[in-house]
Amino acid sequence: MGLHVSSHPLVLHKLALLRRVESEPKKFRELVREISQFLVYEATADMPLAPYTIQTPLGSMEGHAIGARIGLIPILRAGLGMVEPVIDLLPTAHVWHLGLYRDHNSLEPVTYYNKLPAQPDIDVCLILDPMLATGGSAVAAVDILKAWGAAKIKFLGLIAAPEGVERLQTAHPDVEIHLAALDERLNEQGYIVPGLGDAGDRQFGT
Ligand code: URA
Repeated sequence: MGLHVSSHPLVLHKLALLRRVESEPKKFRELVREISQFLVYEATADMPLAPYTIQTPLGSMEGHAIGARIGLIPILRAGLGMVEPVIDLLPTAHVWHLGLYRDHNSLEPVTYYNKLPAQPDIDVCLILDPMLATGGSAVAAVDILKAWGAAKIKFLGLIAAPEGVERLQTAHPDVEIHLAALDERLNEQGYIVPGLGDAGDRQFGT
């Protein structure tokens, strides 16, 4: 349960490169990829295992497979860059894209893309969104997944603001949050400071 901020030296090393203004989209995407793999490694440490018998060249023994059906929920569009690195490590995971934007008047998240199947067929949902800023999208995503029937939900992000963490934890204290860094604050425009700028723009060069 709770908040997990990675302190792994490799994560900190990659994160510094990711933040740097000099990191161009190709480098930025590569770093998102690498850090996402470290995060999902840490976030899946408690996954249940299903034992089965395997044959090695020298005999048989008990092996283990991941014993949970995993759903990846990338929040469009910045979450897209986290999908491939995570599904490379969890190749049986299903991917359900969720499109959310913030309404200019109400400032509340509005869902514009949601193709979750009628029945929940997933044991663990991993929400993928690089930046946990105000927390509005994250809370909306968890609301949607819980209404759908998801039992266990984890949030994986690269950088968060304290405001976003507090909002998500207050609304959904049962959702584990896995981050590479927890930064100082949000600025007036809703950017995380010092952060890395716009994670979507920096990935896609827009
Ligand atoms: N989204 C981003 O891409 N960057 C921020 O700093 C906040 C929200």
